[in-house]
Amino acid sequence: MKVFKEQFALNNYLKTKTVDSIGLVPTMGALHFGHLTLVEKAMNENNCVIVSIFVNPTQFDDISDLNAYPKTLEEDLQKLAPYGDKILVYAPDVRDVYPGTATSSNRYTFGLLETTMEGKKRAGHFQGVATIVHKLLAGFNPTRAYFGEKDYQQLCIIHQLVAQEQLPVTIVSCPIIREKDGLAMSSRNRRLNQKERSQAPLIYATLKRSIALKTSSSLEEINHIVTSTFEQNPAFKLDYFCIADARSLQPITTIKPDQTARAFIAVKLGDVRLIDNVNF
Ligand code: PAF
Repeated sequence: MKVFKEQFALNNYLKTKTVDSIGLVPTMGALHFGHLTLVEKAMNENNCVIVSIFVNPTQFDDISDLNAYPKTLEEDLQKLAPYGDKILVYAPDVRDVYPGTATSSNRYTFGLLETTMEGKKRAGHFQGVATIVHKLLAGFNPTRAYFGEKDYQQLCIIHQLVAQEQLPVTIVSCPIIREKDGLAMSSRNRRLNQKERSQAPLIYATLKRSIALKTSSSLEEINHIVTSTFEQNPAFKLDYFCIADARSLQPITTIKPDQTARAFIAVKLGDVRLIDNVNF
């Protein structure tokens, strides 16, 4: 494993190697087993893997959320070291990514994909995500880039970004990895205290229950049941529950025979905002 703080240094190093395919795994660090499954998949499919570790400021609409985001570079590097020489880590300072004095997003048009759920709740979030992902894709020119389905809306935005900007990369989507009790793995989970951690499995349990209710209840009734589940558990604050078309991400009230639906949820548990989704 080699660690680079500067993009040009990593690219210079790559020039000295014969590399047929590059896999890029963009992360914000605080690596967990879910990230490592992306790294492993990338290792199997490419002969060089770049893991970026960068807490991207432009995708945070709330400075306290940015400040609270776990930053654990030493620990992250220890987790990646066993993967050996095929791994190149890009762990830049903010000025390597955003040169000059302005730390701001580019402007992209993602239409309705951006105005629902996370995009609606977190102003500018996807402009920031698209900016950093675009910079990484253009900067390293990977053959494939790997993203987890936990951030499903992000994945849809990135597919659109790649199509719009005509970037020569294959986006590989990877399934959500869950803890034994069902909680979707996330860097944010480490911010939960012990009590909150024991309560957190309710999120996935409720998503599974919503699927089970499909045969007996309308989508409106399911929405209502999910809302009251969290009202009865005051540790949680439901931000949204949304059954949506899996491609357009627009909320639906019935599922057409040829339609794929997905259920999305965002809740606050204490100070920690968690998201999850399931094929519905
Ligand atoms: O999913 C994430 O961790 C981030 O949004 C990403 C894709 C690394 C961009 O900062």
